[in-house]
Amino acid sequence: MQEKIKRLRRCQLSVPGSSEKMMAKAAGMGVDFVFLDLEDAVAPSEKRPARRKIVDALNGLDWGRTTRCVRINDLTTEYAYEDIIEVVEGAGRNLDVIMLPKAMSAADVQFVDKLLSMMEKKLGLRHRIGIDVLIEEVEAMMNVEAIAASTPRLECLIFGMGDYSASQGVSMRDIGGSGGSGGSGGYPGDIWHYQRQRLTIAARAHRLDAVDGPFADFRSPDAFREEARRAMILGMVGKWAIHPSQVELAQDVFSPAAADVARARDMIRAYDEALSQGLGAVQYEGKMIDIASVRIVRNLVQRADLIGM
Ligand code: COA
Ligand code: MG
Repeated sequence: MQEKIKRLRRCQLSVPGSSEKMMAKAAGMGVDFVFLDLEDAVAPSEKRPARRKIVDALNGLDWGRTTRCVRINDLTTEYAYEDIIEVVEGAGRNLDVIMLPKAMSAADVQFVDKLLSMMEKKLGLRHRIGIDVLIEEVEAMMNVEAIAASTPRLECLIFGMGDYSASQGVSMRDIGGSGGSGGSGGYPGDIWHYQRQRLTIAARAHRLDAVDGPFADFRSPDAFREEARRAMILGMVGKWAIHPSQVELAQDVFSPAAADVARARDMIRAYDEALSQGLGAVQYEGKMIDIASVRIVRNLVQRADLIGM
């Protein structure tokens, strides 16, 4: 079995596949991950022409270290299978990940997995194209554990709160706010607490990344930061951006602070020293630490290593 590739997803920038101009701009932004969209950002009349524009953007632009992904249309549409075929045949060598929206079950992900396997063989692709899945329907949330276990090709679960709100009947004014100013109508507490927790637990149990979806009010950086911070604390590794102004904010929130990384490394050293003296629990900065404390901060060190800090 192929090793799962670890990619940075501190920010996943959504770019309409119908806009050559925005795709060119996105390639030079230094964002961890870009997805060129064939789904909701593209009007039905533009969906077929957008495939060719995306193929040209993947093949023709210099993407640097940015992970290149295409979001296809969902599997109930007439578009989905041709989205995959045209994009992978046209630019499979320059494509890292396919994003599947509105997945309902493990079988949906397995369909995409099998199609990609056939195409990788036919085209002689040397790398495996990954799959990121959007959890944005109530059925998907009910099946999230089975979806997380569906195929080794799966790399990431994304909470898509826009469609999810519609699916559950949540009343929400602007996509993405979980409380207070976010248009959640004064609900006491964070309306996405349960969904983010549930998705992140399923993802972590299967060694997948968990990512938080869009925040539509791109002129409110503080509110965006707060949403990103909530997701980060729960164990998610990144958040979407729908506008260039959100990219740096997300990449910053999901990068550990240098001082926290230094403290984590120091704590691990202190713990190793304690072990060598036969102690399992010791004082560190006046508080108890043991192997669980070390496991917690190792997450931070692994993030820092992946970022190259
Ligand atoms: N990717 C790349 N470039 C983008 C961009 C994006 N998602 N969003 C905006 N830009 C560019 C614009 O083209 C503009 O470029 P310019 O200065 O060279 O003219 C610049 O960034 C500033 O954009 P701005 O004028 O503030 O906004 P806009 O009116 O052009 O676009 C949106 C606003 C919301 C329509 C646009 O951000 C967008 O389409 N976002 C993505 C929507 C999407 O993907 N939705 C589906 C997932 S939820
Ligand atoms: Mg959606």
